[in-house]
Amino acid sequence: MSTPLLQVSGLQVNYGHIEAVKGIDLALHEGQITTLVGANGAGKSTTLLALSGLVKKAAGRVMLDGKDLSKMAPHTIVANGVVQVAEGRATLTTLTVQENLELGAYARRDKGNRAADLAHIYELFPVLKDRANGLAGNLSGGEQQMLAIGRALMAKPRVLMLDEPSMGLAPIIVQDIFRILRDINQAGLTIFLVEQNVKQALKIADRGYVLETGTVVLSGTGRELLVNPKVQEAYLGR
Ligand SMILES: Nc1ncnc2c1ncn2[C@@H]1O[C@H](COP(=O)(O)OP(=O)(O)O)[C@@H](O)[C@H]1O
Ligand SMILES: [Mg+2]
Repeated sequence: MSTPLLQVSGLQVNYGHIEAVKGIDLALHEGQITTLVGANGAGKSTTLLALSGLVKKAAGRVMLDGKDLSKMAPHTIVANGVVQVAEGRATLTTLTVQENLELGAYARRDKGNRAADLAHIYELFPVLKDRANGLAGNLSGGEQQMLAIGRALMAKPRVLMLDEPSMGLAPIIVQDIFRILRDINQAGLTIFLVEQNVKQALKIADRGYVLETGTVVLSGTGRELLVNPKVQEAYLGR
């Protein structure tokens, strides 16, 4: 297999005495969806926060296409193309949908063609176009999640990272969100998807890692993990 676009080695994060992430290795290949699944408290969010530079790493290295991101500040990591969708759909509720999207482009080095980028987001999420001038706070949960994804896409990421985009959404909306992730991946974007919804995540993922109490206990293709008896017993209720 090719050299990973994003390579994480020996990542360790502590909160005081709590060892939340205990030295994990991850490889994200270009153009693939890689998922990190596990139960509540496994260390998934901590892993993402560490990749985004938002919590201190006790040890480990993060390399993007040969460039060392390990010691970079969060905004520099974003400018290098590693962009996390805001957790809990933290859209700015008192701004309009379009203003939220425009903020997404803020961290970009190359300002590109803002109008064309907006048009592209509206093509992906027609519901956002219909609501462009409405306040983000008036969107439904699913629409706010779409806006959060749209905003992250406006930063033109090389790697899009998401922390439990399915959380709190009705199953039919979860299907929508996952279909959109598949679509943007098929258009070439590398995705790192963190999920507690193990089944849905493994279904759309090229590769997956199973995290338990800060340690990667299993990895493989999405398909391999879906049919793995240990995964089925622990996460799929079989
Ligand atoms: N800010 C924090 N301070 C102390 N402990 C934390 C903090 N955030 C998370 N933890 C602990 O770290 C572990 C991993 O948490 P987290 O990364 O949020 O897991 P997940 O996202 O998989 O649910 C858990 O034991 C959690 O209680
Ligand atoms: Mg979490």
